[in-house]
Amino acid sequence: FALSIPFPSSGSPASLFSSLSSGSPQKKSRWAPVAAVLEVGGVKINAIYEYFDANYSGKFVKFDNLSPIVSTKENFDDVLVPADHVSRSYNDTYYVNANTVLRCHTSAHQVELLRQGHNQFLVTGDVYRRDSIDATHYPVFHQMEGVRVFSPDEWQASGLDATSYAAMDLKKSLEGLACHLFGDVEMRWVDTYFPFTNPSFELEIYFQEKWMEVLGCGVTEQEILKRSDRMDNVAWAFGLGLERLAMVLFEIPDIRLFWSTDERFTSQFSEGQLGAKFKPFSKFPPCYKDVSFWISDSFTENNLCEVVRGIAGDLVEEVQLIDNFTNKKGMTSHCYRIAYRSTERSLTDEEINQLQWNVREAMQSKLNVVLR
Ligand code: PHE
Repeated sequence: FALSIPFPSSGSPASLFSSLSSGSPQKKSRWAPVAAVLEVGGVKINAIYEYFDANYSGKFVKFDNLSPIVSTKENFDDVLVPADHVSRSYNDTYYVNANTVLRCHTSAHQVELLRQGHNQFLVTGDVYRRDSIDATHYPVFHQMEGVRVFSPDEWQASGLDATSYAAMDLKKSLEGLACHLFGDVEMRWVDTYFPFTNPSFELEIYFQEKWMEVLGCGVTEQEILKRSDRMDNVAWAFGLGLERLAMVLFEIPDIRLFWSTDERFTSQFSEGQLGAKFKPFSKFPPCYKDVSFWISDSFTENNLCEVVRGIAGDLVEEVQLIDNFTNKKGMTSHCYRIAYRSTERSLTDEEINQLQWNVREAMQSKLNVVLR
C-alpha cells in the first residue's frame, strides 16, 4: 500500500511534500480564494474567525499548523470509527504505513486538543482522500473543524436536556455562519451518521442546480468526552469543507481551479475580499473518451480514478460510470466516460489520444481488468 498522492500537475510534488512533512499549510499564493475565507496563518481577521469571535464571548482557540501526518489511532480510533468502517480502507485513505495516514479529516485532532483542556477551538488544515473525480471532488482539500464544550450550568438554565441544547446551539451557530458568509442562499439540514456525533447532520447549499454538502456536524458522542475527562459536559463539533464554501461564495465551478496558477484565475481574488465573483475566462471544450472493460472482484472506482489521475493529472475533469451489466457467465462489464479538459488551454487530439492510450495501458497493468 505504497503512498501515492496524485499531486496536481501544476504543483511541485517536492515542495508540496516538504510542506507536508513540516506540517505547514499550503502556500498562500496557491490558495487565493480559499485564503480569503480562512487566512491560514494570517494576522488579519478572516470571515469565519471573525464570525466566531464576534458571536461567542469565550474565544475559539485557532490551530492551523498541525501536521497532516497522523496515526490511525488519531484519525480513526480516537473518534470511535469502527474497525470495519469503509473510511479505514486503503481504497479511501492514503496510508503512509500500517499505523500512519494522511489525515482524512480534521476530526483527527479533536481528542488531543480536548485532552489538552481546550473547550472551544477551530482547526484548519489540508486533508486527503482517495475519491472519485468530478467538479466538486479533489484528493487534497481543506477543512475547518470546530468544537465547543458546554458545562452543565449552560444547558440547565435553558430547561432543555443537554443533547437538545447542544444541537440547537450548533444549528443556530452554523446557520448564522452561513448567513454571515453568503447572505441569502438556499440551504437545508439533512440527518446523517458520523461515528463521532449523535445526532449528526449535514448542511447542504443549493449550487449549480444541485444540493452540495458543505459541512458535517453533530453532538459529540459522550464516549469521546469521557475519554478526555469531560464526563459532565456536552459538546458539539463540525467540519467545514473550505473549497466547497469558497466555490459557493465566489461562484467557482470546478474544484481544480484552486490549484491553477493561471493568472486569469489567481488575479481575480485577493485576501479579505469576499465580494468577488469568478469571471469565467474562455472555457475550453471537453473531450470525452469511453473505456469498456470486464472487472475483477478487486475493482474499485477509486482505484480507477487514481490510475486516471496518475496519467492525466488535472487534465481530467470527470470519470463517470455510464454502463454496467453482468452477462450470463457472471462477468461484469463497466463502461466509464472520461472527460478531459484543461482549465488553461486547448488540448490537441494527439495529446488526448496519447493520454487515453496510456490510461488504457495502466488500467490493464494496475487494475487487473480486461479491456473490451
Ligand atoms: N469529519 C467529518 C467529515 O470529514 C465532518 C464532521 C466533523 C462531522 C465534526 C461531525 C463532526 O466528513
